[in-house]
Amino acid sequence: MELLSLLCALLNVLAVNCLDAAQERIVGGYAPVPHSIKYIVSIQTTDRQHFCGGSLINKYWVITAAHCNRGLNNMVIIAGDYSLSIYEGTEQEITPHLLIPHPGYNSSTNDHDIMLIKLRAPVYLDGYVSIALLPRQGAPAAEGGLCRVSGWGYTSSVGQQIPSTLRTVTVPVVSAERCNGSGAYNGSITDNMLCAGYTAGGKDACEGDSGGPLVCEGRVYGVVSWGRGCAEAQYPGVYTAVSRYRRWIDNTIFSYYSRCSNG
Ligand SMILES: *[C@@H]1O[C@H](CO)[C@@H](O)[C@H](O)[C@H]1NC(C)=O
Ligand SMILES: *[C@@H]1O[C@H](CO)[C@@H](O)[C@H](O)[C@H]1NC(C)=O
Ligand SMILES: *[C@@H]1O[C@H](CO)[C@@H](O)[C@H](O)[C@H]1NC(C)=O
Repeated sequence: MELLSLLCALLNVLAVNCLDAAQERIVGGYAPVPHSIKYIVSIQTTDRQHFCGGSLINKYWVITAAHCNRGLNNMVIIAGDYSLSIYEGTEQEITPHLLIPHPGYNSSTNDHDIMLIKLRAPVYLDGYVSIALLPRQGAPAAEGGLCRVSGWGYTSSVGQQIPSTLRTVTVPVVSAERCNGSGAYNGSITDNMLCAGYTAGGKDACEGDSGGPLVCEGRVYGVVSWGRGCAEAQYPGVYTAVSRYRRWIDNTIFSYYSRCSNG
Protein backbone atom coordinates (compact mmCIF):
# COMPACT_ATOMS: atom_id res chain seq x y z
CA MET A 1 0.00 0.00 0.00
CA GLU A 2 2.94 2.32 0.67
CA LEU A 3 4.25 1.67 -2.79
CA LEU A 4 0.82 2.40 -4.16
CA SER A 5 0.64 5.69 -2.26
CA LEU A 6 4.09 6.66 -3.44
CA LEU A 7 3.29 5.88 -7.04
CA CYS A 8 0.06 7.71 -6.74
CA ALA A 9 1.77 10.75 -5.28
CA LEU A 10 4.33 10.67 -8.06
CA LEU A 11 1.78 10.22 -10.76
CA ASN A 12 -0.75 12.63 -9.34
CA VAL A 13 0.52 15.12 -11.84
CA LEU A 14 -1.32 13.10 -14.46
CA ALA A 15 -4.55 13.97 -12.68
CA VAL A 16 -6.14 10.61 -13.28
CA ASN A 17 -8.28 8.63 -10.90
CA CYS A 18 -6.89 5.80 -8.83
CA LEU A 19 -7.94 2.24 -9.32
CA ASP A 20 -8.74 1.50 -5.70
CA ALA A 21 -11.51 4.08 -5.82
CA ALA A 22 -11.53 1.99 -8.00
CA GLN A 23 -21.88 -8.87 -32.42
CA GLU A 24 -25.11 -7.61 -30.77
CA ARG A 25 -27.84 -4.31 -30.77
CA ILE A 26 -30.93 -2.70 -28.91
CA VAL A 27 -34.36 -4.12 -29.76
CA GLY A 28 -37.61 -2.92 -28.16
CA GLY A 29 -36.01 0.05 -26.46
CA TYR A 30 -36.20 3.80 -26.69
CA ALA A 31 -33.92 6.79 -27.17
CA PRO A 32 -32.75 8.05 -23.77
CA VAL A 33 -32.49 11.76 -22.98
CA PRO A 34 -29.50 12.95 -25.07
CA HIS A 35 -26.20 12.64 -23.19
CA SER A 36 -27.82 11.12 -20.10
CA ILE A 37 -25.66 7.97 -20.46
CA LYS A 38 -22.25 9.59 -20.36
CA TYR A 39 -19.92 6.64 -19.79
CA ILE A 40 -20.82 4.84 -23.01
CA VAL A 41 -18.46 5.00 -25.97
CA SER A 42 -18.85 4.07 -29.62
CA ILE A 43 -16.04 1.96 -31.03
CA GLN A 44 -15.58 2.65 -34.73
CA THR A 45 -13.43 1.70 -37.65
CA THR A 46 -10.93 4.28 -38.86
CA ASP A 47 -13.45 5.24 -41.55
CA ARG A 48 -15.96 5.93 -38.77
CA GLN A 49 -18.26 2.94 -39.00
CA HIS A 50 -19.67 2.05 -35.58
CA PHE A 51 -19.21 -1.64 -34.72
CA CYS A 52 -19.16 -1.99 -30.92
CA GLY A 53 -19.91 -0.20 -27.68
CA GLY A 54 -17.85 0.14 -24.53
CA SER A 55 -17.79 1.89 -21.14
CA LEU A 56 -15.30 4.33 -19.72
CA ILE A 57 -14.07 3.03 -16.37
CA ASN A 58 -11.61 5.87 -15.86
CA LYS A 59 -10.05 8.61 -17.96
CA TYR A 60 -7.64 6.24 -19.66
CA TRP A 61 -9.50 2.94 -19.84
CA VAL A 62 -12.51 1.47 -21.62
CA ILE A 63 -14.08 -1.91 -20.96
CA THR A 64 -15.61 -3.79 -23.89
CA ALA A 65 -15.96 -7.34 -25.27
CA ALA A 66 -12.94 -9.34 -26.45
CA HIS A 67 -14.81 -10.16 -29.66
CA CYS A 68 -14.75 -6.42 -30.48
CA ASN A 69 -11.00 -6.66 -30.99
CA ARG A 70 -10.22 -5.55 -34.56
CA GLY A 71 -6.62 -4.59 -33.91
CA LEU A 72 -5.05 -1.43 -32.53
CA ASN A 73 -4.75 0.34 -35.87
CA ASN A 74 -8.31 -0.34 -36.91
CA MET A 75 -10.20 1.13 -33.97
CA VAL A 76 -11.19 4.62 -32.83
CA ILE A 77 -13.03 5.37 -29.55
CA ILE A 78 -15.67 8.11 -29.50
CA ALA A 79 -16.83 9.44 -26.10
CA GLY A 80 -19.56 12.04 -25.55
CA ASP A 81 -21.58 10.86 -28.53
CA TYR A 82 -25.35 10.55 -28.91
CA SER A 83 -26.23 10.80 -32.59
CA LEU A 84 -23.65 9.02 -34.71
CA SER A 85 -24.74 10.84 -37.86
CA ILE A 86 -24.69 14.40 -36.53
CA TYR A 87 -21.65 16.24 -35.23
CA GLU A 88 -22.84 17.61 -31.88
CA GLY A 89 -19.63 19.23 -30.70
CA THR A 90 -19.62 17.01 -27.59
CA GLU A 91 -17.65 14.14 -29.10
CA GLN A 92 -14.13 13.23 -28.06
CA GLU A 93 -12.27 10.99 -30.45
CA ILE A 94 -9.35 9.03 -29.04
CA THR A 95 -7.23 6.28 -30.53
CA PRO A 96 -6.36 3.21 -28.47
CA HIS A 97 -2.85 2.78 -27.14
CA LEU A 98 -3.19 -0.81 -25.90
CA LEU A 99 -5.73 -3.61 -26.34
CA ILE A 100 -5.82 -6.18 -23.56
CA PRO A 101 -8.28 -8.97 -24.37
CA HIS A 102 -8.70 -11.41 -21.49
CA PRO A 103 -6.02 -14.09 -21.91
CA GLY A 104 -8.64 -16.81 -21.46
CA TYR A 105 -10.96 -15.52 -24.20
CA ASN A 106 -12.26 -18.38 -26.32
CA SER A 107 -14.07 -17.33 -29.47
CA SER A 108 -15.78 -20.68 -29.92
CA THR A 109 -17.34 -20.80 -26.43
CA ASN A 110 -17.47 -16.97 -25.92
CA ASP A 111 -15.97 -17.54 -22.48
CA HIS A 112 -14.04 -14.59 -20.95
CA ASP A 113 -15.40 -12.21 -23.58
CA ILE A 114 -13.93 -9.08 -22.04
CA MET A 115 -11.24 -6.63 -23.12
CA LEU A 116 -9.63 -3.54 -21.67
CA ILE A 117 -8.60 -0.69 -23.94
CA LYS A 118 -6.06 1.85 -22.79
CA LEU A 119 -6.52 5.18 -24.51
CA ARG A 120 -3.64 7.12 -26.03
CA ALA A 121 -4.83 10.28 -24.27
CA PRO A 122 -7.20 10.71 -21.33
CA VAL A 123 -10.81 11.68 -21.95
CA TYR A 124 -11.83 15.05 -20.64
CA LEU A 125 -14.64 14.65 -18.10
CA ASP A 126 -17.39 17.17 -18.72
CA GLY A 127 -21.17 17.39 -18.94
CA TYR A 128 -21.14 14.75 -21.71
CA VAL A 129 -18.48 12.29 -20.60
CA SER A 130 -18.24 10.47 -17.27
CA ILE A 131 -16.93 7.30 -15.66
CA ALA A 132 -18.96 4.13 -15.01
CA LEU A 133 -18.83 2.27 -11.69
CA LEU A 134 -17.98 -1.44 -11.60
CA PRO A 135 -19.35 -4.10 -9.24
CA ARG A 136 -17.14 -5.59 -6.54
CA GLN A 137 -15.34 -8.86 -7.24
CA GLY A 138 -17.86 -11.71 -7.02
CA ALA A 139 -20.89 -9.48 -6.45
CA PRO A 140 -23.94 -11.36 -7.78
CA ALA A 141 -26.51 -9.62 -9.96
CA ALA A 142 -29.90 -10.13 -8.28
CA GLU A 143 -32.12 -12.53 -10.23
CA GLY A 144 -35.13 -10.65 -11.59
CA GLY A 145 -33.38 -7.35 -10.95
CA LEU A 146 -33.88 -4.80 -13.70
CA CYS A 147 -30.86 -3.69 -15.63
CA ARG A 148 -30.38 -1.33 -18.51
CA VAL A 149 -28.50 -2.11 -21.71
CA SER A 150 -27.64 0.65 -24.15
CA GLY A 151 -26.07 0.93 -27.55
CA TRP A 152 -26.13 2.01 -31.17
CA GLY A 153 -26.91 -1.50 -32.40
CA TYR A 154 -29.60 -2.81 -34.71
CA THR A 155 -33.17 -2.12 -33.63
CA SER A 156 -34.39 -5.33 -35.26
CA SER A 157 -32.73 -8.66 -35.97
CA VAL A 158 -34.51 -8.97 -39.31
CA GLY A 159 -34.50 -5.49 -40.79
CA GLN A 160 -31.03 -4.75 -39.43
CA GLN A 161 -31.92 -1.10 -39.14
CA ILE A 162 -29.13 0.95 -37.65
CA PRO A 163 -30.36 3.87 -35.55
CA SER A 164 -28.26 6.98 -35.51
CA THR A 165 -28.98 7.86 -31.91
CA LEU A 166 -28.21 5.89 -28.80
CA ARG A 167 -30.92 3.53 -27.59
CA THR A 168 -31.56 1.82 -24.29
CA VAL A 169 -33.81 -0.94 -22.92
CA THR A 170 -34.54 -2.39 -19.49
CA VAL A 171 -34.29 -6.17 -19.03
CA PRO A 172 -34.46 -8.45 -15.97
CA VAL A 173 -31.60 -10.74 -14.89
CA VAL A 174 -32.39 -14.40 -15.67
CA SER A 175 -31.00 -17.20 -13.49
CA ALA A 176 -28.05 -19.18 -14.84
CA GLU A 177 -30.10 -22.35 -14.30
CA ARG A 178 -32.84 -21.23 -16.63
CA CYS A 179 -30.49 -19.64 -19.16
CA ASN A 180 -28.32 -22.77 -19.22
CA GLY A 181 -31.27 -25.15 -19.35
CA SER A 182 -32.44 -27.23 -22.29
CA GLY A 183 -35.19 -24.67 -22.97
CA ALA A 184 -32.54 -22.05 -23.65
CA TYR A 185 -28.77 -22.27 -24.15
CA ASN A 186 -28.54 -25.89 -23.02
CA GLY A 187 -25.14 -26.02 -21.32
CA SER A 188 -23.36 -23.17 -23.13
CA ILE A 189 -23.51 -20.75 -20.21
CA THR A 190 -20.36 -20.55 -18.09
CA ASP A 191 -19.91 -19.04 -14.64
CA ASN A 192 -18.44 -16.00 -16.38
CA MET A 193 -21.70 -15.13 -18.13
CA LEU A 194 -24.82 -13.30 -17.03
CA CYS A 195 -28.18 -13.60 -18.79
CA ALA A 196 -30.86 -10.93 -19.02
CA GLY A 197 -34.10 -10.71 -20.96
CA TYR A 198 -37.83 -11.41 -20.93
CA THR A 199 -39.19 -14.92 -21.42
CA ALA A 200 -41.43 -13.53 -24.14
CA GLY A 201 -38.49 -11.85 -25.85
CA GLY A 202 -39.06 -8.51 -27.53
CA LYS A 203 -36.42 -6.54 -25.65
CA ASP A 204 -32.73 -7.21 -26.07
CA ALA A 205 -29.34 -6.10 -27.22
CA CYS A 206 -28.51 -6.90 -30.85
CA GLU A 207 -25.78 -6.71 -33.48
CA GLY A 208 -23.67 -3.59 -32.88
CA ASP A 209 -24.42 -3.35 -29.16
CA SER A 210 -21.58 -5.74 -28.41
CA GLY A 211 -19.14 -4.58 -25.78
CA GLY A 212 -21.64 -2.09 -24.38
CA PRO A 213 -22.84 -1.83 -20.79
CA LEU A 214 -25.56 -3.70 -18.91
CA VAL A 215 -26.05 -1.54 -15.85
CA CYS A 216 -27.69 -2.92 -12.70
CA GLU A 217 -27.97 -0.87 -9.52
CA GLY A 218 -25.81 1.82 -11.05
CA ARG A 219 -22.89 -0.45 -11.92
CA VAL A 220 -21.71 -2.15 -15.10
CA TYR A 221 -22.51 -5.78 -14.26
CA GLY A 222 -22.47 -6.97 -17.84
CA VAL A 223 -20.75 -6.45 -21.18
CA VAL A 224 -22.90 -7.31 -24.21
CA SER A 225 -21.47 -10.59 -25.50
CA TRP A 226 -23.70 -12.96 -27.46
CA GLY A 227 -27.13 -14.54 -27.88
CA ARG A 228 -29.30 -16.44 -30.28
CA GLY A 229 -30.75 -13.86 -32.65
CA CYS A 230 -31.97 -10.74 -30.86
CA ALA A 231 -34.93 -10.56 -28.48
CA GLU A 232 -36.09 -14.09 -29.38
CA ALA A 233 -38.53 -15.66 -26.93
CA GLN A 234 -36.78 -18.09 -24.49
CA TYR A 235 -33.33 -16.82 -25.44
CA PRO A 236 -32.11 -14.02 -23.18
CA GLY A 237 -29.13 -11.88 -24.09
CA VAL A 238 -25.84 -13.19 -22.74
CA TYR A 239 -23.40 -10.81 -21.09
CA THR A 240 -19.90 -11.17 -19.71
CA ALA A 241 -20.27 -11.11 -15.91
CA VAL A 242 -18.06 -8.15 -15.03
CA SER A 243 -17.99 -8.92 -11.29
CA ARG A 244 -15.97 -12.05 -12.12
CA TYR A 245 -13.27 -9.79 -13.55
CA ARG A 246 -13.06 -6.92 -11.11
CA ARG A 247 -9.75 -8.15 -9.72
CA TRP A 248 -8.34 -8.77 -13.21
CA ILE A 249 -9.44 -5.30 -14.30
CA ASP A 250 -7.89 -3.57 -11.27
CA ASN A 251 -4.66 -5.57 -11.47
CA THR A 252 -4.32 -5.01 -15.21
CA ILE A 253 -4.87 -1.29 -14.96
CA PHE A 254 -2.53 -0.95 -12.01
CA SER A 255 0.19 -2.87 -13.80
CA TYR A 256 0.32 -0.08 -16.38
CA TYR A 257 0.84 2.52 -13.62
CA SER A 258 -1.26 5.03 -15.40
CA ARG A 259 -3.57 5.90 -12.66
CA CYS A 260 -3.27 7.41 -9.33
CA SER A 261 -5.04 8.18 -6.11
CA ASN A 262 -6.48 11.56 -5.50
CA GLY A 263 -8.09 10.41 -2.32
C1 LIG B 1 -12.13 -23.21 -26.61
O1 LIG B 1 -13.02 -24.08 -25.95
C2 LIG B 1 -13.20 -25.31 -26.63
C3 LIG B 1 -14.33 -26.07 -25.93
O2 LIG B 1 -14.08 -26.15 -24.55
C4 LIG B 1 -11.87 -26.06 -26.60
O3 LIG B 1 -12.01 -27.29 -27.27
C5 LIG B 1 -10.82 -25.21 -27.30
O4 LIG B 1 -9.56 -25.83 -27.20
C6 LIG B 1 -10.76 -23.84 -26.67
N1 LIG B 1 -9.89 -23.00 -27.45
C7 LIG B 1 -8.91 -22.30 -26.92
C8 LIG B 1 -8.13 -21.45 -27.84
O5 LIG B 1 -8.65 -22.36 -25.73
C1 LIG C 1 -28.99 -30.33 -24.82
O1 LIG C 1 -27.69 -30.86 -24.70
C2 LIG C 1 -27.68 -32.24 -24.50
C3 LIG C 1 -26.27 -32.66 -24.18
O2 LIG C 1 -25.34 -32.03 -25.01
C4 LIG C 1 -28.26 -32.94 -25.72
O3 LIG C 1 -28.27 -34.33 -25.55
C5 LIG C 1 -29.69 -32.44 -25.93
O4 LIG C 1 -30.22 -32.95 -27.13
C6 LIG C 1 -29.71 -30.92 -26.00
N1 LIG C 1 -31.09 -30.47 -25.97
C7 LIG C 1 -31.56 -29.59 -26.81
C8 LIG C 1 -33.00 -29.19 -26.62
O5 LIG C 1 -30.90 -29.10 -27.71
C1 LIG D 1 -24.12 -25.04 -17.78
O1 LIG D 1 -24.22 -26.38 -18.14
C2 LIG D 1 -22.96 -26.96 -18.47
C3 LIG D 1 -23.25 -28.38 -18.95
O2 LIG D 1 -24.05 -29.06 -18.03
C4 LIG D 1 -22.08 -26.93 -17.23
O3 LIG D 1 -20.81 -27.48 -17.55
C5 LIG D 1 -21.92 -25.48 -16.79
O4 LIG D 1 -21.15 -25.42 -15.61
C6 LIG D 1 -23.26 -24.86 -16.56
N1 LIG D 1 -23.09 -23.45 -16.27
C7 LIG D 1 -23.47 -22.90 -15.11
C8 LIG D 1 -23.26 -21.43 -14.97
O5 LIG D 1 -23.93 -23.53 -14.19
